[in-house]
Amino acid sequence: MADCEIGVVGLGTMGAALALNIADKGFPVAVWNRSPGRVDDLMSRAGDLGDRIVPAATPAALVAALRRPRAILLMVPAGPAVDDQIAALRPLLDPGDVILDGGNANFHDTDRRAAGAGDIAILGVGVSGGEEGARHGPSIMAGGPRPAWDRVAPVLTAIAARHQGEPCAAWLGNGGAGHFVKTVHNGIEYADMQMIAEAYGLMRDGLGMAAGEIGAVFDRWNTGILRSYLVEITAKVAGTVDAASGGPLLDVIVDAAGQKGTGRWTAIEAQHLAAPVPVIEAAVAARNLSARRGERAAGQAAFGPGPRPVAAGALPPDRLERALIAGKVLCYAQGFGMIAAAGAAFGDPLPLPTVARIWRAGCIIRSAMLDEMAAALAEDPARSLMLAPRFADMLRGSHDDLRQVVSLAALHGISVPALSAGLAYFDAMRTARGTANLIQAQRDFFGLHGFARLDDGSAGQHGPWAGDG
Ligand code: 6PG
Repeated sequence: MADCEIGVVGLGTMGAALALNIADKGFPVAVWNRSPGRVDDLMSRAGDLGDRIVPAATPAALVAALRRPRAILLMVPAGPAVDDQIAALRPLLDPGDVILDGGNANFHDTDRRAAGAGDIAILGVGVSGGEEGARHGPSIMAGGPRPAWDRVAPVLTAIAARHQGEPCAAWLGNGGAGHFVKTVHNGIEYADMQMIAEAYGLMRDGLGMAAGEIGAVFDRWNTGILRSYLVEITAKVAGTVDAASGGPLLDVIVDAAGQKGTGRWTAIEAQHLAAPVPVIEAAVAARNLSARRGERAAGQAAFGPGPRPVAAGALPPDRLERALIAGKVLCYAQGFGMIAAAGAAFGDPLPLPTVARIWRAGCIIRSAMLDEMAAALAEDPARSLMLAPRFADMLRGSHDDLRQVVSLAALHGISVPALSAGLAYFDAMRTARGTANLIQAQRDFFGLHGFARLDDGSAGQHGPWAGDG
């Protein structure tokens, strides 16, 4: 039987959920996993869907079960395992067959794999939404040869999340475009999470609020402009009671955040592109810093007392909400700005409105605001989101709150690196005459690098200090 629409290799949490999702949407799917126990496990969980799932005992059996041109979705850990799997499948495939990498690959790896794929095609597919999303509707960001996308688009659009009926799956460009966009998605995810954590810190340490009370505030925020998956789960997390201690679960969780690298890649690529994403960079740095628990404890012992309470009434939750709104707008302006910069640098513009559209449902950063961002980017993809009328208005109504919150945090020893970076970015981006004239003069002084003059527009000018450096 060679009539399966697609094969799935790797039946970990995400792979198994995607295989079930594919079968659920009516497509026969062949599955293979290195350790057969996972295949058995999937089949035992599949119920009626098992009729559309073909378990394969070997990669060759998987390939034999697929219709041509074949399509195989790899759901194996990013890195060398992907290369190994491609190498193992390669001799079994024919020209025109497609391998999809659904992991969180570094887009440079995807570019390299695509370039070396010969007559088969590699599609780099960013999949967001965790296990729940994979099973019932993820956001899918694809890149690679367009004909390969056309081969798999019916399956990928069928399994994707839907926003008002529109599938959150799209082809975004050649090579590693899909994985690049997924990387930036994750950078924004880090920043969104960090800013939410900073708001939590202000309420916990500044206002002395209990986790349950904080959860109720997030719950309320989730009915307004900040409505989003991350705010929703924050409310749920903050309200969760620990069975062992009887207190809030949050209070017994170690304050050191893990990371698998995608946020860091966003910061690294932003630097390569000279695209300013300071909120994301601050969020990545904050995760790194969170891991240094011993050093933080030593710092508190040396320089205590750490965060200090804020006077009652000085920090109304509404103000904090507006500060978070400002931070979020600024963060997304940076993230989309980075995607635009990448398109320009790679000579292959990335479709910003489409990116915003496929982030509206299914993915971790899905939010009400993304709907408005999609509309703003559709009007003018080249304009910074900060300047789109809807978001400019939002910033006019919230940037002063961001300033108040960041000031208050600074005065009370409460660390808010991402919100602070957002404020600094905002102030820099509304300063027509900055201070880099001094940097240029210094560069010219010690290195004769030259500067341009404001008055006559001439470039390559030097100061009278030539020779002093
Ligand atoms: C998603 C997520 C997911 C990511 C986790 C953990 O879009 O579904 O981004 O792909 O793996 O969020 O990432 P970190 O371990 O780096 O926090």
